[in-house]
Amino acid sequence: MKLLLVAGARPNFMKIASIVAALDSHNLRASDRIDYLLVHTGQHYDEKMSQTFFRELDLPRTAVDLEVGSGTHAAQTAEIMKRFEPVLVKERPDAVLLVGDVNSTIACALVASKIVYADGTDASDRTRPLIIHVEAGLRSRDRSMPEEINRILTDALSDLLFVTEQSAVDNLRREGIARNNIHLVGNTMVDTLLRHRARAEQSAILQRLGLAGSDPDNQATLPYGVVTLHRPSNVDDPTAFRNILDALFTIGQTLPLVFPVHPRTVARIQEFGLADQCHMLAPHETIPETKAGLYFIEPLGYLHFLRLMSKARIVLTDSGGIQEETTMLGVPCVTLRNNTERPVTVSQGTNVLAGTVKEAIVQQALRQLNRPVNSKKPDLWDGKAGERIVRIMKRT
Ligand code: UD1
Repeated sequence: MKLLLVAGARPNFMKIASIVAALDSHNLRASDRIDYLLVHTGQHYDEKMSQTFFRELDLPRTAVDLEVGSGTHAAQTAEIMKRFEPVLVKERPDAVLLVGDVNSTIACALVASKIVYADGTDASDRTRPLIIHVEAGLRSRDRSMPEEINRILTDALSDLLFVTEQSAVDNLRREGIARNNIHLVGNTMVDTLLRHRARAEQSAILQRLGLAGSDPDNQATLPYGVVTLHRPSNVDDPTAFRNILDALFTIGQTLPLVFPVHPRTVARIQEFGLADQCHMLAPHETIPETKAGLYFIEPLGYLHFLRLMSKARIVLTDSGGIQEETTMLGVPCVTLRNNTERPVTVSQGTNVLAGTVKEAIVQQALRQLNRPVNSKKPDLWDGKAGERIVRIMKRT
C-alpha cells in the first residue's frame, strides 16, 4: 500500500507525527508494509511555524514541498490544488491522508476526489486514491469560520473518517455519512502530547522567561497564564481585537500572562497601531517577579510551548487544539469564542467558553483561577489513536 500524508499548517504537524510513528512501528514489525510519502503544502513556512516542528517531532523529510505560502483563502486553496494535482498523477498513491481543518486539508481532498488515474488500469484498480480524514466530524456550527467550511466539505469527500470524540460521530451520522466509514479512534494530537511530555520537561522556557529559578534544587514556578489568539474573527476586526486585548490587560493585573504571538496577530498589532501597548519581551528580558502584565513573545516550538502550558495556572485561547491539550494536562482553559467544535473539552475537560466580550472573559478567567480543576480524560485519549488508525487502514 502506498500512502500520501499531507501537512501544511502548524497544527497539522503534531497530528501527522503520531501517524508517522505508528506507520514506522507497523513497518518494522509487519511484512505488509505501508509505504508513505509526506507532502508539505507550505501553507505555513516560517522557521517558527514549520521547520521547528519537523525537528522536534522527528518528522521525516518531506518528499514534496509545494511551497504555496500565504494568500487569500481562494488564492491559497487554488494554488495548493494546482500544485498537488501533478504530485498525485506522478505518485498514484492508494490513499491520501489529510488531517484537521485548514485550507491545505480541503484543497487536497478536492483534488484527490476528482483525479482519475485511469489509462489502462483494469476495473478492479482504484481510479482515484482513497481519501482519509483524521479529526473528522467536529462541528462548531459557525459557518463564518473558514475551518467549519473546510471540515464539512472534507468530510463529505472522505471515504474513511477517523474521529476524536462521540459528538463527531453523531455529527457525521446526521450528515448522512455511512456508519461503517466512521471510526472513533482517539486523538492523534494527544498521542503526540503524551509521547513528548517527558522531553518537554527538560525545556528551559520557564527559566528563560524568569518564571522558575535557575537553581535545579529550587524550581519554584511563579503563577502565570498563557495566551494564544489568531482567529480572523478575533484579530482582524479592530474593535473585537481591542476588546479582547483589554480583557487580557485586566486579567494580566492578577497574574502575568505570556502571549506567544502568531504572525497574523503580529501583523494586526502593527496595522491597528497597537504596538506601543503590546510589550514584546526582548530575547534576554525576563518577566519581573513582582510585575504582572501581558508579555508578548515570539511563537514557541512544540516542547517549549508544551512545558509553558503544562505549568500554567490558566490558558486563554481561541485555538482548537489547545482546548484539547489543556484538557489532557488538567490546566484550566478559557476559550475566547462563542462556540467550540470540541464539546468534550467542556463536558469532561477543563474548558469554558467565554465568548469575546471583555467583562465575560475577565469573569470566566477569575472563576477558572479560583475553582478546583476537575477534569476527566475523554474516551480513547490514551496515546494510541495513531496505532488504531494504521490498524484500520490496513484492513480497509
Ligand atoms: C491557519 C488555519 C487555522 C489554524 C492556524 C494555525 C486555515 C483557514 N486556517 O490560520 O485553522 O488554526 O493556521 O496557525 O487554514 N504567516 C506567516 N508565516 C507563516 C504562516 C503565516 O507570516 O509561516 C502569516 C501570513 O501573513 C499569513 C497569515 O500569517 O497571511 C495567516 O496565515 P494563514 O495560513 O493564511 O492562516 P492562519 O491564520 O495561520
